[in-house]
Amino acid sequence: MTHHEVAILRIGHRPERDQRVTTHVGLTARALGAKGMYLASADKGVVESIADVVERWGGEFFCTDNVKWRSCIRDWKAQGGVVVHLTMYGLNLPDVISEIRPHNKILVIVGAEKVPGDIYGLSDYNVAVTGQPHSEISSLALFLDNLFLGKEFACEFPGAQISIIPSRMGKQTVER
Ligand SMILES: C[S@@+](CC[C@H](N)C(=O)[O-])C[C@H]1O[C@@H](n2cnc3c(N)ncnc32)[C@H](O)[C@@H]1O
Repeated sequence: MTHHEVAILRIGHRPERDQRVTTHVGLTARALGAKGMYLASADKGVVESIADVVERWGGEFFCTDNVKWRSCIRDWKAQGGVVVHLTMYGLNLPDVISEIRPHNKILVIVGAEKVPGDIYGLSDYNVAVTGQPHSEISSLALFLDNLFLGKEFACEFPGAQISIIPSRMGKQTVER
């Protein structure tokens, strides 16, 4: 589909209130062509929800919790990757996406509440999906679609137990 290796680093997740949003960050990342999500908190509930979806709907998406965000960023860079932090304070997406697209290995950081100030300096790109406040899910979706230029619609998810046959009306699925 695309040569990119994209992973998400989710920081600031609070298990008592962010489970649903963080799970949706992971599911959005998976559906739109990313390879996995690092979660900078301990939350087996999120890990299990995503693993359930992967088991049923296929593909190889990983979700690793309890990562230390500093070493995650350091290791990613040591492996030749670039780091993109999504923040409304950054440069607007249309102005930087063509500079980011040639990189093969991209770590996308999204926050929950305020992110630690160091993230801005540790990131190679601080990218705004408009300068208006919205959500980590919407900003990630738009970032990935702009990065992949719509090619994520052709993603395949091998090994799926269930898949959908696109239909003008009604619901058609195939179960294996
Ligand atoms: C609900 S927002 C909270 C942001 C927080 N109020 C702050 O000052 O950083 C959670 C995350 O959504 C993402 N986000 C929200 N609006 C964005 C925008 N316009 N552009 C890029 N990312 C955005 C960022 O990753 C942010 O850390």
